[in-house]
Amino acid sequence: MKDGISMGLREKCRIVNFADLGDERGKLVVIEGRQDIPFDIKRVFYIYGSDATVVRGQHANRESEFVLINVAGTSKVRITDGDEEFIVELNKPMMGVYLPKMIWKDMYDFSPDSVLLVLASTHYDGKEYIRNYDEYLEIMGVK
Ligand code: TYD
Repeated sequence: MKDGISMGLREKCRIVNFADLGDERGKLVVIEGRQDIPFDIKRVFYIYGSDATVVRGQHANRESEFVLINVAGTSKVRITDGDEEFIVELNKPMMGVYLPKMIWKDMYDFSPDSVLLVLASTHYDGKEYIRNYDEYLEIMGVK
């Protein structure tokens, strides 16, 4: 809450720009849990070999927070809370998008060289996933 007005989706799911510690030898990006992003990192996974026809994600998580970064190539993330919606193009290794709990996301439009790195605040637990959009809308009270 900010000034009694609830935060918009873009404020909740903010773009994070990481510092580039690169020099003439090349680029270096560092992401420290609780310093550069709002959580301690418990899990890292990355998605590659998806192409422009694939839609991934299509779920919300009751417990996990994430930061998504295309460390190579590009992809898009459609982000919604069932009410508002916006799309982020992840197209540089120094930029990520933070997703708090209970946000629905679809990742798509993967370039052939896309490597989508995901930092997560939790260990994997399939039970915390909501994979049915109607159920998600009901939980969010928008249905
Ligand atoms: P899935 O959630 O469908 O991936 P995406 O979010 O990219 O669409 O996960 C694919 C499979 O991998 C599924 O069987 C669950 C498993 N998995 C794990 O075991 N641990 C993990 O951390 C993740 C993200 C997935």
